[in-house]
Order: sequence, then C-alpha cells, then structure tokens
Amino acid sequence: MALVKLLLSLAVAVSLAAEPVHALYESSPNVKLLSPANFDRVLSKTSQPTFVEFYAPWCGHCQKLQSEYEQAAKRALGIAKFYAVDCDNESNRGLCARFSVQGFPTIKVFTEKRTKRGNRKSVDYQGERSARAMVGYARSILPNFSKKLSADGLDVFIANSSRLPKAVLLTERAKTSDLWKGLSALFSNQVDFAQISNPEQQTLERFGVTELPTVVAFSAITDPSQFEIYKGEIKYLPLAKFIKNVSTGRKTAESEVPHKKAFMVDRNVKEIASQGDLESLCIEPGNKSPIPVMCIIGVVTLEPEFEESREEHAQAIKTLEYVLRNQRMRGKYAHSGTASSSSSQDINGVDHVDEDDKDEHAQQSEAELSPPFRVAWVNALGTAGQKIRTIFELSDDLPSAVAISPRKSAAAPYVGPFDANSILAWADKCYQGHGMRRFAFDLDIINKKHAHDEL
Ligand SMILES: *[C@@H]1O[C@H](CO)[C@@H](O)[C@H](O)[C@H]1NC(C)=O
Ligand SMILES: *[C@@H]1O[C@H](CO)[C@@H](O)[C@H](O)[C@H]1NC(C)=O
Ligand SMILES: *[C@@H]1O[C@H](CO)[C@@H](O)[C@H](O)[C@H]1NC(C)=O
Ligand SMILES: *[C@@H]1O[C@H](CO)[C@@H](O)[C@H](O)[C@H]1NC(C)=O
Repeated sequence: MALVKLLLSLAVAVSLAAEPVHALYESSPNVKLLSPANFDRVLSKTSQPTFVEFYAPWCGHCQKLQSEYEQAAKRALGIAKFYAVDCDNESNRGLCARFSVQGFPTIKVFTEKRTKRGNRKSVDYQGERSARAMVGYARSILPNFSKKLSADGLDVFIANSSRLPKAVLLTERAKTSDLWKGLSALFSNQVDFAQISNPEQQTLERFGVTELPTVVAFSAITDPSQFEIYKGEIKYLPLAKFIKNVSTGRKTAESEVPHKKAFMVDRNVKEIASQGDLESLCIEPGNKSPIPVMCIIGVVTLEPEFEESREEHAQAIKTLEYVLRNQRMRGKYAHSGTASSSSSQDINGVDHVDEDDKDEHAQQSEAELSPPFRVAWVNALGTAGQKIRTIFELSDDLPSAVAISPRKSAAAPYVGPFDANSILAWADKCYQGHGMRRFAFDLDIINKKHAHDEL
C-alpha cells in the first residue's frame, strides 16, 4: 500500500514537472507571439528593426531572458518591434527550421533590407542580452526613410506620382529625430515621409501652422490643397494613429469638420448656368456655409456638337480644377480642435489602433475659418456667360475669367494667358484685394427681379 502511495505521489510530482510550461510571452503586452500563419505578413509590414526571439519554454536561458526582452520591447516602442516564436510548438517547427535555429534562445534581428521576394533580411543578434544593449542596438540600426526638403521641394514631393500619401514634419531641428525615423520606418511602404527644418514663414502660413514641431499630412494623393494638420501630442502612439489614418485615406475626426463644411462641398469646378447656380456657388451658399471670400469664374466656350470645342473646354476645366486645388490656404482655415491622445502601452497598438474611439469635440466656429475661394465656369456663349462678359467688361479673348468678391461687392477681370500658374498668381492678388474694383450693380446675371427678391 505504502509503495503504491509513494509511486502515486511520485507520478503526481512528475506530471506536475512535465506540465507544459506556458509559452513565455503568451500574455505579454509588449512581445507578440508569431506563427507561420502571420510571420511574413507581420514582418513585411514595417521596416523598423524587428527582433524575433526563437525560444523553447523549458530553456533556462530563455526564461532568464524574458524580462529583459520585455523591457527592451517596452523601451524601444516607436523604433523597434519585438516578437517571439515558440519552437517547442509543433506548428512552428517549420518556421524555426527555416531560420536554422539550433539553440535557444536565438535572437534574429530583421533589418530594413529586403530579399528580391520582399521578405526582410535578418542578422543574428550577438550583443548582450540586456534591455539596454538591445535597445541600443535597435537605435544603431534604425533606418531613416524621411527625405529632407526645402520649402521649394515640397510641391514636387507632394505631387510625386508614387501614389502614396505623404507626411511632412515641420520642425526647428536640423537632425531627423529617432521618433520620426521610427515612424518613417513603420510606414515605409505605405506613406512617404519628409522633414522641413526651420520652415520659412511662408510655409507656416500656407498651412496655417503656428507652433513647431508639427506634422502636415497629405492623404489625397498629389493634391496639395488637401492636407491635415496634426494637433495632438508629439508622441509615438498618437502620431502613429494619425498617420495610420492618413495611410488608409481616413479623415481624422478633427479635420473632417472644416473640410466638410467649407471645402468638400465645392471641390469640383461647377457650371454656372442659372442665377441659382451663381448664388449657391458664389454668393450665398446656404446651409450655414460661410459666404465665399472670393469666386473665380472661368469664362469658357463650349459648343458641344464640335469635338474640337469639347476638347478645348475639357482643357480649360482642367486648368480651373488645378487652380481650385492649388490655391494657397490661409489663416486658421486648416485649424481646429485637438487630437485625442489616448495612448495604450500596447507596443502593437498601431496594428490595432482603436478604430472607434470617436471624439466629436472638434467643432470650431466657422467665423474663424478662412475658406478657400471657389472656382466655377460659365459658358461664354450662353445667356449667363454673355451677361457676365458684359457686366464685367471682359476682353473678347477667350477663355477668360473674372474674380468676384460678394462680401465686398468687388470684382476684377483677368487679363492674360489661360494657364493655371498665371491664374493662380492673379487670383492670389485678388484674394488680398489687389486690383479688385467695387461695383454698384447687383450680381444679377439672369433675372434681376428674382435676385432682388432673394437678396
Ligand atoms: C501552437 O501554436 C498554435 C498557432 O499559433 C496555437 O494555436 C497553439 O495554441 C499553440 N500550442 C501550444 C501548446 O502552445
Ligand atoms: C518620387 O518618389 C519616388 C519614391 O519615393 C522617388 O524615387 C523619386 O525620386 C521621387 N521623384 C521626385 C521627382 O521627387
Ligand atoms: C536621413 O537623415 C539624414 C540626416 O538626418 C538626411 O540628411 C537624409 O536625407 C535622411 N533621409 C534619407 C532617405 O537618407
Ligand atoms: C482615425 O480615424 C478614426 C475614424 O475616422 C477617427 O475616429 C479617429 O479620431 C482618427 N484618429 C486620429 C488620431 O486621427
């Protein structure tokens, strides 16, 4: 009996010892476990230095490493990623064999370099197995995907046909910080990064920026008039969320408001064919939208039955669209609210950024916004076009244009070649009031009586 009892208790002890040791990082907030199912996808997503520890749960050195590895992961937030693979797990055997893992732990560091197939190349980590040493190593190999730009280079950069959204850091610092390098590496194949050091006043005004550093994002590819200013803390997680949004073409909560109200409605160059069109576009948009500061009306001929005329017309509309999109932004137009900067300590926070932490606080009074000018077109040969040409004494050279400021009852005819840059330069002067003459008559192009009733 006694013997049986002893054997039994031994068996219990043995089975306790053999109880599967829990995978070391199973519930770690900083170190995520990888498997063959997600390994390549997770690694190829980023170009930040990426540590992968191949371990076995029973190995003493692995257990000893765990807390340093976790510490390193936490401290390297923003510049490096830390993962682990349990080589004792049957389903991971192939993965561990692929990287010729011979002993435990083996730490591989994947750099920004890639194989022809797009997989990241790795090196064996040979350094000290302390958090300090691992973070130091991560810093030493942190790549930098951010271009240095001058103010002049900015438009070229934005217009670049790489089709990627852009994030531009405006800063007083000459050097590229690790934070910005880390972000540029995190999004290396999703967002183009750049930095402008000591930006000129003109650049700050263009974006309505008053404080440095800040980040301007261009989510609408190649369209420099569509930008968002980051208003949150200059910290990794909130910035990464912001840029993540940019990369997925999502509007941030705070920039959505002014865009929707003041600009999104009028992004196309619309035709003015009636008094109602003129009013809704240039004079009184209704819906509590602010009265436009200025309206540019392109006077363009269109004889739809002739192909040549259709082509010329399309060209002119393109020019006007370019004018609309490339106008300079002013004042506080792009400003509003503050970003929520809720940050979790989850190192992979960026991979599963809380998609639905809504904040609706970003309302701003419209009076503070300086809306961009509107751009419309009118057929020079139609009733409306002929009236506009007469009223504003436009030259007979077509296409031409007129700038109207309904608020100031002032207007200016355009004289010059019908190309976007000339028109933009002229429009900018008009916007500031140069060359605008007051006029005493109603802006009533179709039906005087109707206009009187309405205004
Ligand atoms: C082995 O890995 C697979 C895939 O990651 C996982 O679902 C499973 O729970 C793991 N098994 C053990 C014993 O950890
Ligand atoms: C556009 O972007 C690509 C990729 O980032 C770069 O190689 C190229 O030099 C850029 N072109 C210009 C004109 O900046
Ligand atoms: C990286 O950083 C340096 C200095 O901070 C900068 O001059 C360089 O243009 C950056 N970008 C790239 C892609 O090397
Ligand atoms: C990201 O987009 C979501 C959804 O549009 C929005 O609720 C959130 O506030 C945005 N976050 C940031 C930091 O811009």
